[in-house]
Amino acid sequence: MPDIDSHILVEQFEAQYQRPASILARAPGRVNLIGEHTDYNDGFVLPAAIDYVNAVAAAPREDRLICATALDFQGQSVRFSLDQPMENDPVSPWSDYLRGVVQALLADGYRLCGADLLIHGNVPPGAGLSSSAALEMALIRALTALSEEPITSERAAQLGQQAENQFVGCNCGIMDQLVSAQGRAGNALLIDCRSLETRSVPIPDGWAMLIVESGVSRGLVDSEYNLRREQCESAAAFFGAESLRDVTLEQLVSAHGKLEPVLFQRAHHVLSENERTLRAADALRDGDMATLATVMMESHRSMRDDFDITTPAIDTLVSILARAARGQAGVRMTGGGFGGCVIALAREEDLPALEAAVEAEYSARTGCKARLIPAKASDGAFAEAGLAWLDGA
Ligand code: GLA
Repeated sequence: MPDIDSHILVEQFEAQYQRPASILARAPGRVNLIGEHTDYNDGFVLPAAIDYVNAVAAAPREDRLICATALDFQGQSVRFSLDQPMENDPVSPWSDYLRGVVQALLADGYRLCGADLLIHGNVPPGAGLSSSAALEMALIRALTALSEEPITSERAAQLGQQAENQFVGCNCGIMDQLVSAQGRAGNALLIDCRSLETRSVPIPDGWAMLIVESGVSRGLVDSEYNLRREQCESAAAFFGAESLRDVTLEQLVSAHGKLEPVLFQRAHHVLSENERTLRAADALRDGDMATLATVMMESHRSMRDDFDITTPAIDTLVSILARAARGQAGVRMTGGGFGGCVIALAREEDLPALEAAVEAEYSARTGCKARLIPAKASDGAFAEAGLAWLDGA
């Protein structure tokens, strides 16, 4: 797992708390290759953990306090008791992820000890690369290790999701947390979001990921995300199904004209996206990158036309990258939508041409400023490198 400078974190911990940290926990952000808005419909996703991490240096306390400082938020500090009801903190909203995971762990029966924590990371915040899931997984890894409470990566992901849903107030699915916990270097992770079964799918040699942040503000994310989720639930309810996973494309097509058009489109995206995700995982496994490129472009069109979550600037960015790669790369918007990032999975030798095309055309055509984020598929928080016991502990 490439890194933030761990020494800075360890030294700052000592300066802040006047004693050494005993552990360092790291968890990565993620990029999704395909399978968008399918996780909360019990469907399939194919993300990869990336080499940008949020990290937590930690030491246990004798008392029942959690004390935390976030280096990336002007060094803001919070302190609260494990024995008081948890409340949202409007002054230090980053700490809601900490309070949320502490509440979820305690409610699930984990016996936590007090802790001093120092948080620092390099997952670009607000870019749609799951900086918050990375923070949750690093915190859960750190808090359970300090308290000598074993936890599985699967449970950690579920509790991270619960913290977001119930405490932070974002109705996300499980993809981000699960891949941040379980990702493997050099691999994408096919997740069945109903059973939580996973399968690592190697990214073939000679292929690389380029993430391009669109510079489009993600203002509508929360309200539009929750609206999409409700629309999917309404579509499932129309078929008397628990989730869209239990509805087939054939059933959907035969309901054309009876189901409200917008719900038909939303369900059409989800059901076709599940099929595309499985096809993409097979194509990646077989090194059939031409099929992968086709399926990823179909996914982008489905997000644009059926799910209505892309923006004109993002569509332009996708077409610039696809053309620069002469159709030889998988390109699509990645993440929740309404801005954020585009992912290109391309031959290594094509990356300079892709980057040059973005520099030359994107800003001129859209007025937005892109940021290039080269990324490698990396280990998750529960891989060996996710947790280090430090000397002197
Ligand atoms: C966000 C959510 C995920 C998932 C994606 C869309 O990243 O956190 O759970 O729903 O959007 O695929």
